[in-house]
Amino acid sequence: ERLKDIFADSYHIGVAVNAWQVNSSDEKVSALIANQFNSLSPENGLKWERVHPELDRYDFKFGDEYVALGEKIGAFTIGHCLVWHQQVPRWVFQDENKEPLGKDALISRMEDHIEAVAGRYKGKIHGWDVVNEAFNEDGSFRESTWYKVTGTEFMKAAFRKAHEVDPEAELYYNDYNVWNAAKRKGILDFAKEMVSEGIKVDAIGMQGHYQLETPTLEQIEQGIIDIHEAGFKVMVTELDVDVLPRPRSAVGADLNMNFANSEEYNPYKDGITPEAEAKLAQRYADIFKIYEKHKDKITRVTFWGLGDGNSWLNNFPVRGRTNYPLLFDRNLEPKIEVIEKIASV
Ligand code: G3I
Repeated sequence: ERLKDIFADSYHIGVAVNAWQVNSSDEKVSALIANQFNSLSPENGLKWERVHPELDRYDFKFGDEYVALGEKIGAFTIGHCLVWHQQVPRWVFQDENKEPLGKDALISRMEDHIEAVAGRYKGKIHGWDVVNEAFNEDGSFRESTWYKVTGTEFMKAAFRKAHEVDPEAELYYNDYNVWNAAKRKGILDFAKEMVSEGIKVDAIGMQGHYQLETPTLEQIEQGIIDIHEAGFKVMVTELDVDVLPRPRSAVGADLNMNFANSEEYNPYKDGITPEAEAKLAQRYADIFKIYEKHKDKITRVTFWGLGDGNSWLNNFPVRGRTNYPLLFDRNLEPKIEVIEKIASV
């Protein structure tokens, strides 16, 4: 069974892809993407440091191949992300003397970037994560350089500019831990403020980087309800389920530990146990049960990667582990038990 068909009446089913997938000569990869998914997200290829590595240099190789793949398979194609505090080069915040840019100069640099990138893919990228991860867990604004230099103005200017450049594109604010009520309140209050000022915001992306036990299903559900009640579409933009224990601290003393060789912190390096895989199936089924219950509010559910072997979670919060967060394994074979369980919700 194909994921996109299972949920055809509910929402788009998306997958995040990288360069080696968009131009893969491996028939298995391209067939899997085309058969299973009807939405695409770029995992890393459209982030500022990739697409705009130097002031006067853009690199659209990935982006052009990405939108071509999207067109070929008829996918709802996402852009990720125009403004973020990570994966953005240092020069962005500096003038030619490496002095910090002031507010107006930084905003205008940001607007140039949005014009170039969203402009190139006008009509080809159907929805943009305009701003990514701008809030703290307590609902205040993250003290990023964007915020420190411009206050909240970078958010508003980014959405305004993206809309001006491609009026047809959907525009999203995207963040993790949106299940956290305090963070969510900060996000929704500000998003509503933008809307009241005439700024277009279509959806709030709840990333969905989950673990087996946390967050609770109630927390996930409340997030969906609150976003909807605030007047926005809900998108699950980066779904995966980390099956490994989280080392209490990935810094300090623990850094000296060899996590990859640790029985405790890398318990499934020779293969996931049936018990753990059953937990993964149950967790996904529980989550999709909530999505189905609220399918009138949700327009897309995107998995953050195609197969386990290339998931970012093999390297987070420590490098070199063997994680199993997705629906396709290291050989890109479907996890039948997990998919069947999801399909039966
Ligand atoms: O490409 C280089 C490679 O040349 C080098 O040898 C290798 C060793 O460090 O690093 C490679 O770059 C890595 C890149 O992923 C590609 O694999 C970076 O170190 C690594 O930091 C980067 O991580 C990405 C991360 O965003 C950056 O913060 C993850 O792949 C990507 O999945 C992750 O995605 C984010 C979303 O954009 C926003 N939401 C959270 C999500 C997960 O962190």
